[in-house]
Amino acid sequence: MATTILGTGSYLPENIVSNDDLAKYMDTSDEWISSRTGIRFRHISNKETAAEIAYYAAASALKHSGILAENIDLIIAATITPDCLTPSMSCILQEKLGAVNAVCFDINAACSGFIFAMNTAHMYLQAGMARYALVLGVEVLSSILDWTDRSTCVLFGDGAGAAVLGPGEYGIQDFIMGSDGSHGKALLCSGRPLRNLYSNEEAANPYVHMDGQAVFRFAVRQVPECIEQLLKRSSISIHEIKYFVLHQANIRIIQSVAKRLQVNIEKFPMNISECANTSSASIPILLAELDKEGKLQRGDKIILSGFGGGLTWGAVLIEW
Ligand code: UT7
Repeated sequence: MATTILGTGSYLPENIVSNDDLAKYMDTSDEWISSRTGIRFRHISNKETAAEIAYYAAASALKHSGILAENIDLIIAATITPDCLTPSMSCILQEKLGAVNAVCFDINAACSGFIFAMNTAHMYLQAGMARYALVLGVEVLSSILDWTDRSTCVLFGDGAGAAVLGPGEYGIQDFIMGSDGSHGKALLCSGRPLRNLYSNEEAANPYVHMDGQAVFRFAVRQVPECIEQLLKRSSISIHEIKYFVLHQANIRIIQSVAKRLQVNIEKFPMNISECANTSSASIPILLAELDKEGKLQRGDKIILSGFGGGLTWGAVLIEW
């Protein structure tokens, strides 16, 4: 039995913020942001918590899958912006959904998080440890941005996407994941300082700091390489792939990947102009949109690929 995506769902906070809106608060412009990144709008929560955003996406995925919450055996949330360090996002979500039989834990792999969560759930299912799993990417990145740093804060947005996995005829064919901790500082958000009876460390800057050009170079090299490896291993021609659903970080990264792979850009669906970079949530949000629009037919081959903080990267080949 394959691991099939039985249903998808997504949620974006109601508050929509344009580039011009941001230009009222900082020295930036719609022209700079849209020409460098493709971003025009982002959703920034002014009321929904990460757990609420996750809940709306998860409830929608469950509804579309037809699977009851109590039949979910496993919940894996990918996030770098949980509401609490403990309980985990997945445990909070379990309670909200009434998924009383699920084992719940979170995964931190930044923008590759959804791919890592999906692959982990896939392995649980293939090992017979779970029958139905709920995986999601959820972020309230606006809470970890320095809103005085125009080089990062204009790039990100909030949101969540989810998928219910279960046994079926079609589904996940193969995947690749990778990490390079030696370049982790290129995309950094520090945690708490060491403060206890014996140490009184100064708090580091608690906001996202990014060497944008280093991450850009990493992405345009690593993503095509990883997709080519996956195709080679699966003995599938690149022409058989209907869509490449990439992490939505920058339209120029996606264009560069398409060029390097010599694939028409039309095969790279995008929503970055409306959502900006939502880290682990970007791939499942886009996937849910494609699903909702009826663009995915049974048997279509698609590749999802994420990359970002860690540094981490990954790709998964799915027969829909
Ligand atoms: O999801 C995680 C993965 N993240 C990514 O994939 C991000 C990858 N990197 C990128 O997308 C790009 O590197 C950025 C969009 C972040 C930046 O684009 P860039 O072409 O590399 O710009 P830059 O950082 O070299 O900045 C160019 C100029 C600078 O001014 P000077 O020094 O040339 O005078 C910046 O100060 O643009 C300035 N600048 C801005 N100007 C207006 C930086 N941010 C802004 C801004 N508005 N928001």
